[in-house]
Amino acid sequence: MNAVSSAPILKIANVVAGYTAGHPVLRGVNLIAQPGHITGVLGPNGAGKSTLLRAIAGFLQPSSGRIVLGDEDIAALPPHRHMERRIALLPQGRSTFPELTVAENIELGGWTMRGDRARLRQAVEAMFARYPHLRALRDRPAGSLSGGQQRAVEIARLVIGDPKVLLIDEPSVGLSPIVAAQVYRELEALKAEGRTILLVDQDVRAAIKIADYAYVLSSGRNDIEGDRSAFEGDLGVMVRRWLGV
Ligand SMILES: Nc1ncnc2c1ncn2[C@@H]1O[C@H](COP(=O)(O)OP(=O)(O)OP(=O)(O)O)[C@@H](O)[C@H]1O
Ligand SMILES: [Mg+2]
Repeated sequence: MNAVSSAPILKIANVVAGYTAGHPVLRGVNLIAQPGHITGVLGPNGAGKSTLLRAIAGFLQPSSGRIVLGDEDIAALPPHRHMERRIALLPQGRSTFPELTVAENIELGGWTMRGDRARLRQAVEAMFARYPHLRALRDRPAGSLSGGQQRAVEIARLVIGDPKVLLIDEPSVGLSPIVAAQVYRELEALKAEGRTILLVDQDVRAAIKIADYAYVLSSGRNDIEGDRSAFEGDLGVMVRRWLGV
């Protein structure tokens, strides 16, 4: 699996979006996610980070602005068109289907292969080869697994579609430090395969460690931004700024 040659650049320009007409949550957001990079999206609760990922994944249509993948504006396309373009969202919180087995949960990510059972089955097996610790759990209902195991299932459900763009929302919340570190290592592996990653994270320190570039959103607008080195020495300043002190 190698996405290097085809990972497109993702550009967000002046995006305005929200849940009720006349009350935008995103109020003109600009962002560029370079192919093969991890781009962090940080900011306080309610800043609009998850809303931004939902808009990029096509679950929320911007009222204005552009979301450009490669050279195509995808802002107005329905979600399944985004899936066809291999944009994959890991939503905030738990998103496994607890009554479905591990294998069935992973299979759900192979939606674009639904017409070809043999190919889909092969793709599921490829995920068990990539994540061997999930193999022994394949027939267990996902709801019976630990939080870390469920996160691994969610990641396999994303990766089965060979995504070019990964939209990752708060991947380490609720996990032990060891399991969280495994999740970040996997994100770095996905980056090394040339995929474009947008990483929303409350754990600013962890995000800065693996992000090449980071944006801070505040009240639905861009605040500060910079490459890793710009943030590394100065996390305290950034956090104080969020708190308004
Ligand atoms: N489904 C929804 N319907 C209506 N309003 C929503 C919905 N989801 C989020 N909002 C509102 O949009 C704003 C931004 O929320 P969003 O979830 O994007 O923020 P966030 O930066 O991801 O915050 P957090 O760090 O808490 O996850 C908030 O005021 C929130 O109440
Ligand atoms: Mg959020």
